[in-house]
This record gives sequence, structure tokens and C-alpha cells, in this order.
Amino acid sequence: MVAIACTGRRTVGVLFAISAIFMVGMFLISESFSRASWGYAQQVQEHWSNVLQHSDPTKIYNCADPYRRPGYLYIDSDDYKKTRWIPYTEDFLDAETPTAAEYPRPEGMDVSFNVTTVDEEFVESASTPRLWATEVLAEDSSRRKAVSTPTKDQTADDFVDVKDEGDLGWLWGRRVLLLGDSVDRYMIQFFCEEFGRKMHQPAPHTTATCEIPTFNLTLVHWHFAGSMTYRPDWWWMDDMKEISFEERFTNLWEPTLDTKVRGPTGQPDLLMWQSGLWDQRALWECAEARLPEDHPLGERERQLAWEEVRFVAARIRKFVGFLDDTFGPGVPTMFRAITMHNESDARDANLYELDRLSRAIGERAGHEMFEWARIITAFSMLYKDQTHAAKGPASWLWANMMLEYLARGAGAGDEDRAPYFGGWEACHQHLRGWGGR
Ligand SMILES: *[C@@H]1O[C@H](CO)[C@@H](O)[C@H](O)[C@H]1NC(C)=O
Ligand SMILES: *[C@@H]1O[C@H](CO)[C@@H](O)[C@H](O)[C@H]1NC(C)=O
Ligand SMILES: *[C@@H]1O[C@H](CO)[C@@H](O)[C@H](O)[C@H]1NC(C)=O
Repeated sequence: MVAIACTGRRTVGVLFAISAIFMVGMFLISESFSRASWGYAQQVQEHWSNVLQHSDPTKIYNCADPYRRPGYLYIDSDDYKKTRWIPYTEDFLDAETPTAAEYPRPEGMDVSFNVTTVDEEFVESASTPRLWATEVLAEDSSRRKAVSTPTKDQTADDFVDVKDEGDLGWLWGRRVLLLGDSVDRYMIQFFCEEFGRKMHQPAPHTTATCEIPTFNLTLVHWHFAGSMTYRPDWWWMDDMKEISFEERFTNLWEPTLDTKVRGPTGQPDLLMWQSGLWDQRALWECAEARLPEDHPLGERERQLAWEEVRFVAARIRKFVGFLDDTFGPGVPTMFRAITMHNESDARDANLYELDRLSRAIGERAGHEMFEWARIITAFSMLYKDQTHAAKGPASWLWANMMLEYLARGAGAGDEDRAPYFGGWEACHQHLRGWGGR
């Protein structure tokens, strides 16, 4: 103040005018900001109460995909077939405070925790997905017992008469197609093994098939080797002749298209795609083979370079277009989020970036998100090696998710979650968004 008083009157006037303008400006900004944020807060509140409201089945809550909601992966260390996803509901968020969490602490309370199952009330919530794999497996065993043909000779013809048993008629003749890497192939293999069946591969890194005759259910894997447009001399797998998906389709995949991949609609009943680990490796190898040793792209702990982003984006966009051209509209299609390594550090930075890129491309194409990989991120104890999730809680979760999406597409599932299971289109418009990860 003293300083101001010592300067001339004019300066004081100017200073006054400037601060007045500043104050009015701040007022206007904060006013519009708080109005905007109030509007936003209201929208968020409405969204959440819609999403979490499960007492009223007409609410949009029933279009929420439980596997995309935040939740808890319950793992039973004695029985991996009890693994299940427990989305956090409003009842859970408002649940009473356990004694151990009371503050101030109850007299004599020494906090320590125990391993328990999830409280029954949260397991039983309508939003907790069903253990489809348990039901399907039990039905498989009773169907097998009902026929006299030995297991290895059984075909779908043996089971036509019992196809509707166990309320599982909707599964008959379904075809699931996975365009991905060995992580997906292992999931098919493990699924097949649960049913005492064997997955067949004509040669490594080509196609793989699992047929479950009790349901006339077939899972097909087309090994997708990433974005490269040709087979470079630095390619690290000697037994792979074709790399581009265009050539792989013509030479390896297409022969299975009409024989294995078309379900009751003439198209696959569920299509999942993903390209992560092969692109990660190819981009590393490419830089190492072609650039001087001290080039920054020679590092494996690095981001994608922008030119790599542009390259992969163009290729994945073309790949997604190829899916549309090959299968046409109306096929339930999902981007399977990319799995990380068992010990995941800065070397996986580009893998997360490839994941985000595919999400954007898949989202625009109207594909939904299969979040299995994000649910198991950092659960390295569920892996069998550096790269692959093992048979156990991770594969059981995968099986339940795959069957739930298949049921949704087939228009079968719990009424109390209607309209979710009313066919893929019933909730698709609410689920085609990326969801912000
Ligand atoms: C764990 O179990 C012990 C013994 O039954 C009990 O005293 C303790 O309160 C439990 N911890 C919690 C957090 O419930
Ligand atoms: C098995 O499913 C396929 C594909 O949906 C179908 O074409 C075939 O007729 C089914 N087989 C039997 C025995 O029903
Ligand atoms: C990750 O995989 C590597 C290679 O198979 C293995 O040595 C390591 O023990 C694994 N780490 C974990 C946490 O499973």
C-alpha cells in the first residue's frame, strides 16, 4: 500500500482499473466454470445412479457390461473354478463400516486381516456375472454320459437330440473366431482341455481349432502376426512365411472360413481381435536391424515413435476394414485388450500405447471391449511364463467372459439383467464407447 501511495495518482488509477477488470474477469470465469462443473457433476450423478440402480430393471443399468465395471477378481486358491468378477455395486459402496475400519479404533482392537470368500450379498447381486463355464461343463459331462459313442469318436450328430438340455440350446452350433496371438490360442487350448478335448493346429502360428461336439461349439484361432506388410529378412521366426494379414488370410485362414467359422447366422457368433505382442516385437526388431546401434529407437524401454503410431494405425485400420468386408455388419465384434508381460515395466510402455491405439480404431468401428487383459494386469502369479496367462483363474475368467458375450449375442441369459441378453444390438449403442482407460 505504501508503494502505491508513493506513486502518482494516475498510476494508482491504472492499477485500480486493471485490478477491477481482473476481478470481474475472474468472477465471470469462475461463474461459468462452476455452472459447467455443476452441470457436469449432475450428469455424472445421473450416470452413476443409472448405472448402479439395479432394483428397477427398466433402467439403463442393465446395459452396463459388468466386466467393464470396476470390480474385484475373486480368486479361490483351492479351486480356480470359483474365480469370478464381482463388480462394485451401490450396495457395496454404501455397505456398513466393518469394525476393524472404525475410527477411533474400538478398544482393544488390533487390526489384522483374514482370507475369506466374498460376502454372499455381493456375490448374489444381479450385476455379478454368472459362472457360465461351470454350467456348460456340468452339462457337457451329463450329455457325454447319455451317449454310448466313445468320447474320441463323438461328433455333434451324437448330441442333436439333447441340444436343448440344461437351457443351453442357444449354444448349439455357435462359432467363435479369435484373431490374435498365442495368448488367445492358449485360452482356446485350456478351454478345450476343460472339456477333455484337444485343440488342433495344422502347423504353429497358422490356425487352431477346438471342437466341442456336445454343444456343436467351435472355437477357431487365426494367428495374426501384426502390422508388417511383408516378411522382412530380420523376422525372428524361421517357420513363418506369410506375415501380412492379407497373405495370411489367403494362404492360411480362408480355407477354414466356410468349414469352421460360420455359425447359425452364416457368420461367426463372436469375433475377437487383437495385435499387441507381435507388433511390439516387430517394431523393436525392425529398429535394431535397420538403425545404427546408438539410435534412440534401438532401446527397448521406450515409447512408440510417432511414425510407428502412424504405421500401426494405418495397418490396424485396414485390418478392421478387412474384418468388416469379410464378415459384414451385425457380427458381435470385440477388441480384446492387450495382455502385458508377467514382469511388466517400461519395456511394456509401447504395448500400452498399441492397446490405446487399437481401442480408438476398434471404438470407431463399433467394436466393444473385452477387458480380460486389464482385469488380470499385474497378476503375474496367474502366468505360466513371461508372456502367457496360465490355465487356472485367468483362463477360467476368460471362459466365463467368452461364454457371457456369446450368450448376449445369441439372446440368452438372465432376465433380471434385461435387456442386456436381448441380442447384441439390444445394448450395443450403450457399450460401443471406449470407457476412458
Ligand atoms: C480376522 O480374524 C480374527 C480371528 O477370528 C478376528 O479377530 C479379526 O477381527 C478378523 N479381521 C477382520 C478384519 O475381520
Ligand atoms: C453344427 O453347427 C453348424 C454351424 O452352426 C451347423 O451348420 C451344423 O448343421 C450343426 N450340426 C448339427 C449336427 O446340428
Ligand atoms: C516371469 O517369467 C519369467 C520367465 O519365464 C520367470 O523367470 C519369472 O519367474 C516369471 N515371474 C513371475 C513373477 O511369475
